Amino acid sequence: MTKSERLFEEASRLMPWGTQTNAKRPDASFAGVMPLLIERALGCRIQDVEGRWYLDYRSALGPIILGYQHPTVAAAVRRQMEKGVLFSMASPVELDVAASLVELVPGLEQVRFMKTGNDANNACVRLARAFTGRDHLVTCGYHGHGDWFSCGHGEVPGLFPRAGNGVPRLLDSLVTRLSYGDLTATEQVFARRGDEIAAVIMVPYDWGEPVAHDFVRRMRELTQRHGALLIFDEVLTGFRLARGGAEEFFGVRPDLRTFAKALANGYPLSAYGGRRDVMEKLYDVILTTTHAGETLSLAAAGATLQVLRDEPVIEHLWQMGERLRDGFDAAARERGLKARVFGLPPAVQFRFGEGDEAGDEARHVFFRELYRQGIFAAVPFLLNYAHQPADIDETLEAMRAALDVVAGEMPALAR
Ligand SMILES: Cc1ncc(COP(=O)(O)O)c(C=O)c1O
Repeated sequence: MTKSERLFEEASRLMPWGTQTNAKRPDASFAGVMPLLIERALGCRIQDVEGRWYLDYRSALGPIILGYQHPTVAAAVRRQMEKGVLFSMASPVELDVAASLVELVPGLEQVRFMKTGNDANNACVRLARAFTGRDHLVTCGYHGHGDWFSCGHGEVPGLFPRAGNGVPRLLDSLVTRLSYGDLTATEQVFARRGDEIAAVIMVPYDWGEPVAHDFVRRMRELTQRHGALLIFDEVLTGFRLARGGAEEFFGVRPDLRTFAKALANGYPLSAYGGRRDVMEKLYDVILTTTHAGETLSLAAAGATLQVLRDEPVIEHLWQMGERLRDGFDAAARERGLKARVFGLPPAVQFRFGEGDEAGDEARHVFFRELYRQGIFAAVPFLLNYAHQPADIDETLEAMRAALDVVAGEMPALAR
């Protein structure tokens, strides 16, 4: 047994899943090649408990936007640590970060902080229901583990077992779930119950689907016409798609929006905000938690936003993603493989075959070979500011070798 296996077995004895986050549960089909426990990270590299370094494309599931231990962020946190972590009253660092966010994000008139993406989404949903006096919600995308989200969409084996999942069935009638880009279902739900809808909460871009400008625009029109609020869940798109968020990318202004993952480059902080008249409802709606003003994460967010404002972070993510995409496309073409890159450059995905089983198997082989060569592959590949052209080229070298194995093991994938 390796050290990783031993530690993970012990962790599983003490903690259900052996970890806290669904996506960090080890995939048994990659046993022996995928790292199980990470000890440390720097830039775009992570080191597992065996001492092996990996070139990382998971970016801690999205929060790492500038690179692990970015010096500006680390220095801001150290400075704040000298002053203290949490106080008995508000701290000026809350004001600093609020001011930076309002300056960076168009349409953001007021903001409040929470800790997780789930918290911020819960807050917006509660606020929208209070503001409109309505109960029905339309959701689109993954939004966390709130009761209002863990209902209303039937079974998703593994992730959303409906029967006996602890969420009252009563709530099912209060939520309609839409798939990203499904204009027909959107028109139908508004035609049927438009005037009962408190809010549409949606991911403005789902990295696994084509960009749907019409869908996002139509959602704005329909919510406006029916007096519902539009909430963008920018937990994953925030500061990855565009500096000013999805509003800047799509040219569509939501009433409220949430940010979380990339906001503080890995420190636990989320934010929600938008229209002043909606946010002022927070004087009546009690949404409060002890650690929301925790200053180390706020200091980290202040520094992260400063780097985002002063340096071409987003441009860099797009450039590195394009380099990866183009290199993969060329390598797949040279080998005559049915494979393509999908999604926007800051978070690309690699797909094989034609949505068939052979495609899934090929991607499995591809990932297995990448892990073996020390590339921590992910769906999607989340770029961060620390990835340099040499890192992308190192990855492409490994990808070419992995594609040779795919071609050898899976002749069915030849064009
Ligand atoms: C779009 C989106 N919304 C909400 C969440 C939940 O955020 P958190 O895990 O910080 O609670 C996630 C997490 O993956 C997400 O991707």
